[in-house]
Amino acid sequence: MAKDFVVTPWKVEGDIDYNRLIKEFGTEHLDDALLHRIKKLTGELHPFLRRKIFFSHRDMNWLLDEYEKGNKFYLYTGRGPSGNTHIGHLVPWLFTKWLQDKFDVLLYFQMTDDEKFLFKDNLSLTQTNSLAYENALDVIALGFKQGKTHIFTNTDYSKTLYKNALLVAKKITVSTTKAVFGFNDSNNVGELFFTSMQAVPAFLPSVLKGKNIPCLIPHAIDQDAHFRVARDVLPKLGFYKPAAIHCRFLPALGIGGKMSASEKDSAIYTTDSADEIEKKVKKYAFSGGRATIEEHRKLGGNPDIDVPYQWLSFFEEDDSKLKKIHDDYKSGKLLSGELKLILIEKLQVFLKEHQRKRESARKVLDKFILKD
Ligand code: TRP
Repeated sequence: MAKDFVVTPWKVEGDIDYNRLIKEFGTEHLDDALLHRIKKLTGELHPFLRRKIFFSHRDMNWLLDEYEKGNKFYLYTGRGPSGNTHIGHLVPWLFTKWLQDKFDVLLYFQMTDDEKFLFKDNLSLTQTNSLAYENALDVIALGFKQGKTHIFTNTDYSKTLYKNALLVAKKITVSTTKAVFGFNDSNNVGELFFTSMQAVPAFLPSVLKGKNIPCLIPHAIDQDAHFRVARDVLPKLGFYKPAAIHCRFLPALGIGGKMSASEKDSAIYTTDSADEIEKKVKKYAFSGGRATIEEHRKLGGNPDIDVPYQWLSFFEEDDSKLKKIHDDYKSGKLLSGELKLILIEKLQVFLKEHQRKRESARKVLDKFILKD
């Protein structure tokens, strides 16, 4: 991969060329024919599909063929609990929730407390485990169906997971993990093993039900390496390859890369107060506006590089509202400060409601959690 950007499960940096990722990873474009096919089944397209925020996939046509034959799929996604949830994390989850509603299917949600312990120097297993349950509140707050949504941390569901991870691990050589993930001799041995754990939920329901069930994994494109390995191994164990649908990253508030939970000012957390939201957007959001008001009125702003506009393109669901903001900004009618206020208001309203639901999620957390 050229040096201008990096996308691996553990590092996302630079100005990402998503078309190049499709080529390098060997995935497929989410093209209009497929969008049309999805729309026929769901009645409408989620804005993330209309706007190509979900832009790539593996085996979606196979998955829908099976679905149309009456062979229903389940959903699988997850989170590496290395910190509090920020709004970038919500992007694949919001879409997963939409899929659950539209197709009325089960969801398995993996919290990789083991992964974040193994890969981060500064986190204990106790910390990653408790972060996992805090993060689970954000998942539940999005409205996933109780009884159809199973959330588990790898360490607290290890009895079931480990047995199945062993099946996968036996089929992965050290040289494969090195080639796929770029590991070398100074990686710890837990890191080399870990992908086996992330593969398990891609076939676990098939084991539990004693028959093969198709799996769809909605996820951000950085996780693809894990599922390339899983897709290679699972047929050798007698299971289907999982299908996947991939999203882009919500850009960081400052310029470049994805939002990182470890760079506090680059992110808006789901627990941020209205004041914090306002302060961060005003102070840190990278603007595509001009240096002076006169210049801006005359030449207009650049929505393509403007982070508040980019964020609205993720979170403003109304196409015509978004278009007006785009056109007004470009023509110079809408100023950077005004655009920031539109975003601030949107985030404040959304997060206030999210925080209320997040607190009531504590009462039902048990109903969502798998442990053994
Ligand atoms: N490894 C992922 C992360 O660090 C967490 C994860 C586990 C995941 N299983 C998944 C993400 C399935 C997407 C889909 O965030």
